[in-house]
Amino acid sequence: MAATPRTIGILTSGGDCAGLNATIRAVVGRAVQGHGWRVLGIRHGTMGLLRRPLEFEELGLRVATVNILRLGGTILGTTNRGNPFAFPMPDGSVRDRSEEVIAGLRELGIDALIGVGGDGSFAILRRLAQQGGINLVGIPKTIDNDLGATENSIGFHTAVMVATEALDRLQPTAASHDRVMVLEVMGRDAGHIALSAGIAGGADVILIPEIAYTLENVAAHIEKIRRQGRNFALVVVAEAVKDQTGRRVQRRHSSGGVTYGGIGNRIGEALARLTGAETRVTVLGHVQRGGQPTWTDRLIASAFGVHAVELVAAGKYDRMVAWQNRAVVDVPLSEAVVAPQQVDPDSTLVRTARGLGISLGDG
Ligand code: F6P
Repeated sequence: MAATPRTIGILTSGGDCAGLNATIRAVVGRAVQGHGWRVLGIRHGTMGLLRRPLEFEELGLRVATVNILRLGGTILGTTNRGNPFAFPMPDGSVRDRSEEVIAGLRELGIDALIGVGGDGSFAILRRLAQQGGINLVGIPKTIDNDLGATENSIGFHTAVMVATEALDRLQPTAASHDRVMVLEVMGRDAGHIALSAGIAGGADVILIPEIAYTLENVAAHIEKIRRQGRNFALVVVAEAVKDQTGRRVQRRHSSGGVTYGGIGNRIGEALARLTGAETRVTVLGHVQRGGQPTWTDRLIASAFGVHAVELVAAGKYDRMVAWQNRAVVDVPLSEAVVAPQQVDPDSTLVRTARGLGISLGDG
């Protein structure tokens, strides 16, 4: 049986999202008030552990009592650059700086680390934990909701709410001008945001990377709507959808990888050509990540935070808290990072979309 830890660290890593502060608050509240532990908040993910002096602050009960529950972003800061195993140096070289991060964690004197992240962050944090013998617990967050083994990740519901609200606002202007409105939403490897918001926001067409589409099918659907007497349409497209040549619209990301964005414009232009409709494109971008978390994200984040602390108390490590069947459980972290959890083309939501007469562009 592991000795009861007295000091734990927490960091947020990867892209920010709404609900991160709610989970920080829950971790601090449970650890400090419930167990009498100290909580050290590490700044800017693993970046704070690479800097000297180390960048961290002790998170006292004040964090649990002030209004961060309602705040978007993360009070700790985050990063989705600077993988310590392949760290880009100013001279253009790439260096393994993992031992510096591990030394930083040791210097903090923490008994366990709670990492709030997505699949990329967990892969890095697990490797660090294994290499440095660090006790790690993961809390899933990503607006994309593509982590394995959990039905919900922090940030997803807020992103869907923002995208749904965008459709609510686009619909009247589309109707007023007889236009086709294309809304591009985020979703790096999966179309969960597009699918959920598209259904909730009354889209006519939803294009997701998991289902191959043709522009001709989309144009035919818009024509059908016209024949039925409606002269406008709402099209939602996930950023990871491929263009007609089978390529993703991407550009270089500051991490050295790629980032998506721009498929909405390609689809908008093509639909204007094919249907003759006046077409406008909205790229929602980072608006989906900011703002106040919905009540569901606050709830999920709070439940995850409390459960993560209890895992530390029980000495259960290399695990991720997860939402399954209306309850918080925990699963091996390895299960969460195996592969992105994409939209199942036979899922209830895909069937719902089809049942509502929404086109997914495949027929
Ligand atoms: O993974 C979350 C996410 O918001 C993706 O949906 C999006 O492609 C990416 O992050 C954007 O990253 P950045 O904030 O670095 O532009």
